[in-house]
Amino acid sequence: MPNMSDSYQDSKPLKVAVLVSGSGSNLQVLIDAMKAGSLPIEIVGVISNVKEAYAVTRAEQADIPVTVLSHITEGENAGKRMGIKTFERHATAQLNSWQPDLIVLAGFMRVLSADFIDGAPAPMINLHPSLLPKYKGLDTHERVLASDDTHHGCSVHVVTAELDAGQVLTQALLAIDKQNSPEQLQKRVQKLEHKILPWTILLITKGVLDIEAINAQQQSSEYLPALPLQLWLDN
Ligand code: GAR
Repeated sequence: MPNMSDSYQDSKPLKVAVLVSGSGSNLQVLIDAMKAGSLPIEIVGVISNVKEAYAVTRAEQADIPVTVLSHITEGENAGKRMGIKTFERHATAQLNSWQPDLIVLAGFMRVLSADFIDGAPAPMINLHPSLLPKYKGLDTHERVLASDDTHHGCSVHVVTAELDAGQVLTQALLAIDKQNSPEQLQKRVQKLEHKILPWTILLITKGVLDIEAINAQQQSSEYLPALPLQLWLDN
């Protein structure tokens, strides 16, 4: 795998693969930034585990290769769930053929195994709708509204075998309005996501965030005082 900062210095775009399950608004932000030339990336492919996900349409409209590895099978085995191992085997083969420098989970909703993460051809980052380490898992907006927390937001972190537990790279924060419904709060957080995800990838392309070095340090459990980088983006 090429060194990411070399890739930037050579002014070659960083090759990015994106895994999705849903509407793909974050994927769209990356597509738009790539097309506008504001982010030096090439989205080499998109993998969706949901056939009907609007993210699939967004990738097709942008002429980006898209592979659907639906978790619901059709034909003879209709309705049977594709096991995670089968998904991972196909996804690994696809990623190996694209040879990305970075894999981005942007609203990807399946839990991946340690073997898949360790064997992936590039480091992997995930966008999560909470200020990690708070509110790992699902229903983050409901849970934060039921708490006494005064602020909320989203995080981009390195993917490791433990769910939502890898090194947090960046966070964007907002003040909680207790009058908000979970849906209203989710919309506000998504506006932050649309800024923090491209910003984080920009920092990776510039070598400011070196995920491989971060991973190596994490394995020797050294303290990383400079992370996460936080942006207060109230809206
Ligand atoms: C985003 O809000 C992201 O934070 C969340 O899914 C949404 C996808 O939106 N991810 C997770 O909950 C991961 N645990 P999008 O499909 O419009 O980009």
